[in-house]
Amino acid sequence: MTRRNDEAEATEAPVSLTRRTLFKALGAATAATTGASLLPGCGAKSSDQGAENLGFAEIPHALDFRHHLPEGYSADLLLRWGDPLDAFAGRFVPEKLDAKEQARRFGYNNDFIAFMPLDPDAGPGEGDRHCQSQNSARGLLCVNHEYTQPHLMFAGYTEASSVRGTSDAHIAVEQQACGHSVVEIEQTNDGWQPVLGSPYNRRITLTTAMEIVGAAAGDKRLQTSEDPSGTQVFGTVGNCAGGKTPWGTVLIAEEGFGGAFQGDPDNVADEVEARNHHAFGIEEGNRNWGDYDRRFDITVEPNEPNRFGWMVEYDPYDPESKPRKLTGLGRFEHEGFTVVSKPGEPVVAYGGDDDEHQFVYRFVSSDVYRPGENDHNRQLLTAGTLYAGQFREGGAGTWLPLVFGQGPLTPENGFRNQADVLIDCRRAAKLLGATPMDRPEDVETNPVNDCTYVMLTKNKKRQAGDENPANPRARNTAGHVLEIVPPGRNGLRDHANDTFHWNTFLLGGNPNAEDPAERGAYGQQQPGNISTHGWFANPDNVAFDGLGNMWIATDGCEDFGFHDGLWAMATEGERRAAPKHFFGCPQGGEICGPEFTPDGKTLFVAVQHPADADNSTFDTPLHRWPDNDPQLPPRPSVLAIRRDDGGSVGS
Ligand code: FEO
Ligand code: CA
Ligand code: CA
Ligand code: CA
Repeated sequence: MTRRNDEAEATEAPVSLTRRTLFKALGAATAATTGASLLPGCGAKSSDQGAENLGFAEIPHALDFRHHLPEGYSADLLLRWGDPLDAFAGRFVPEKLDAKEQARRFGYNNDFIAFMPLDPDAGPGEGDRHCQSQNSARGLLCVNHEYTQPHLMFAGYTEASSVRGTSDAHIAVEQQACGHSVVEIEQTNDGWQPVLGSPYNRRITLTTAMEIVGAAAGDKRLQTSEDPSGTQVFGTVGNCAGGKTPWGTVLIAEEGFGGAFQGDPDNVADEVEARNHHAFGIEEGNRNWGDYDRRFDITVEPNEPNRFGWMVEYDPYDPESKPRKLTGLGRFEHEGFTVVSKPGEPVVAYGGDDDEHQFVYRFVSSDVYRPGENDHNRQLLTAGTLYAGQFREGGAGTWLPLVFGQGPLTPENGFRNQADVLIDCRRAAKLLGATPMDRPEDVETNPVNDCTYVMLTKNKKRQAGDENPANPRARNTAGHVLEIVPPGRNGLRDHANDTFHWNTFLLGGNPNAEDPAERGAYGQQQPGNISTHGWFANPDNVAFDGLGNMWIATDGCEDFGFHDGLWAMATEGERRAAPKHFFGCPQGGEICGPEFTPDGKTLFVAVQHPADADNSTFDTPLHRWPDNDPQLPPRPSVLAIRRDDGGSVGS
């Protein structure tokens, strides 16, 4: 949500939206998920991974009203806010948008993207079969919609006036515009397109019925007047990043949920709850959703916020499936959780709490992953142990278990049971001695080298003297990336081990910056190895291609004078941590996703909040990407990027 008010000097250049005519048959399967031949280090090997695998022509840093791609690549404009998901919804007319219309259309501020392949011979409800498919020409695009911005969505607001002054009718639209979309998409002779009216197409919104499962389910702190069971909740909000499981489900994160709630925590009688609500930014002056829907007023329903801030798992292949909030993965401002699974081993999931001085987490399932036994696998994330990361001097690390009764997690410190530990995860992790980090965003394991990478976006609140080995910069404006190296066992990396090694993969920022505190450092690369446009700041989302190259999406580069975008780099070999600039956003936008098809030939990216800048509104937007139509506002949109010659993206 970085904001700038730079004078744009861009022309009103039309967005290039070439519809591709090339249609390539299915490609090779993705890389092996268990390869770990490089024990114990991840970057030790001089491999063929590197520049030759990232042979695209780098694009320049820029800041204008367009998106930017390397020469020889094209993007299909696949889904925009307001695009219909059914065959009868018709063209998007923003002035006619009501809650019912929004519920049948693509939501706002697209973030995480999962591409879930469809087996051509299986139908809805047959996720067991679909999840084994490598189909790269037809699948379900599962997309988060993180938050809404009334001043950019509706006429008549400024950013300030919309905070407490949004009309009931518009709040009703917002509650259908956030959440998640499932859209069947296919590659046609005309490029990637949504399949309107597909039986899989679905919106998950703030009114979708969900179940609360795991150790905290049913606890009294999750009970409300509408739900005395503490196990049933309507909807999800703040849906930032997420993950996929090998058993065909999608994980969606609840991040900035506090902003949905109004009311002064000091007016909540229970001290524990008041402190808890303060910690998540719930304030009297927040959005006025509570006036429209009383459960978003904590003075009416003080426990309702405890029903948000979880990871949500659902089955995209079954349009009737009921999403489940997984309390075992803890409650905080979840950026996402990504899963590492090996046959016969516990499932390990990594995630981050995206706030200043918050923690990196790891979950280890009680039971083991059994390929093909999906009834069994679908319970794996409901029982297990959550840990917070401690990153020590010299690259040593320990995962600290968040278990009631162990260490300081006792009644003396205000924990009644495991539900308290999970609901007040931040407090528990801090008491255990976990390392406060610089806003952990995506945490994901590279399927090729099996090491785990932590995106730390920035932390302007870190004071001088408050640095730690894994967060070495005071007032960290540019962010950094850590590499977690699990120890080896039987020739494989043991993600379930409670110790790990870590190193600094890169420090964001200009490698030639004069101020050492702002100077970027890209592994062992010399500054001269990083091109003028290769450096970046504020890593947010990350994805890996089939060769193990890392693709980092940024949120905040406009503070450094250029657009947010994508940078690709090797994780091994001579060009380890040497980024190359691949994609640039239109001004005001942040890039999310990114997600490859299994064959690596399509890369989906989500441009979130284009034209989000000071004084930019629906009535007078900074620009109108991607349509550039005076009748349409700027619209958050998903692009499908392909190489014009049909080759693998990036190679
Ligand atoms: Fe929603 Fe942490 O970015
Ligand atoms: Ca994010
Ligand atoms: Ca990711
Ligand atoms: Ca972010």
